[in-house]
Amino acid sequence: MSAKQTNPKHCLSIEGLKKTDVLALFQQANQFLAASGELVPLISPLTPPPLHGVVVATIFLEPSTRTQYSFELAATYLGAHVLHFNLQSSSNETKQETIVDTLHNLEAMGVRCFVIRHNTPHAVEKLAELVRPDTAVVNGGDGIHAHPTQALLDTYTLWRRNPDFSQYRVAIVGDIAHSRVARSQMQALSLLGVPDVRVIAPPHLLPEDIGKYNVTCYDNLESGLDNANVVIALRLQKERMSPALLAQMGDFHQTFGITAQTLRFASPDAVIMHPGPVNYGVEITSDVGKGPHSLILQQVTNGVALRMALLAQLVKS
Ligand code: CP
Repeated sequence: MSAKQTNPKHCLSIEGLKKTDVLALFQQANQFLAASGELVPLISPLTPPPLHGVVVATIFLEPSTRTQYSFELAATYLGAHVLHFNLQSSSNETKQETIVDTLHNLEAMGVRCFVIRHNTPHAVEKLAELVRPDTAVVNGGDGIHAHPTQALLDTYTLWRRNPDFSQYRVAIVGDIAHSRVARSQMQALSLLGVPDVRVIAPPHLLPEDIGKYNVTCYDNLESGLDNANVVIALRLQKERMSPALLAQMGDFHQTFGITAQTLRFASPDAVIMHPGPVNYGVEITSDVGKGPHSLILQQVTNGVALRMALLAQLVKS
């Protein structure tokens, strides 16, 4: 898998990916899901397990539940040994060791795949330039820049429902400005040929460079959700907002919350997605987020399968 990166051992962003490669990855992921949609593991159905003898380290310098544990399970199911890096008990936190030195030391112990989350945009790309040529690096989210595997698992979830991307009308609602997920989703949906992608947010929650994405912007749910058949809600990332921005947030739920009421603007068969973590009662109500049209937990399950396919591909490259 090559993204903006030219090195096929890395997955750093959606930029530079080819549609055919993404669709091939989706096909590969399907072998890890049963017809019921449940994961096939605990043990990889492939013999020998593709990552037998490989050591994968997850290095998360920002909190995570879904991405970190999903990668750790994916690697385990493929037969890898998984090292869970703990920042608080590492030499970085108390002894000022740099992350680059940490990567080099772990490589010296045999680690050949890193999944990294970092709070600085593009930091994972820079780290990927500093590892051994036979080490794979996956971006588990870098600041507001990119979260490629989230966008891949989201589009994989849509593809499993209907592989004809030309039929989707996707509305992404919420804090687009601070969302690496939204940026990667906008790129992935465009790459896969979704003709109608909308973002719905107040002006202060739109990125300044939104014009570079192939999307239409709306500042209200009634117009933005009109006949949409996919609604993706996003969390307000208050931890990334300035005090001035926080002060002008107002009642987001009142104006932009996805509820049974506001969903009436969308297509009656619209599916509901969210990358998590969800703040019920803010960007979405729990009856919608946990209702019959919700794909939220299916996204999580599909993420393990997608990440299994990705890790298998990167490590063998
Ligand atoms: N979707 C997502 O990135 O969730 P985590 O922050 O829990 O990994």
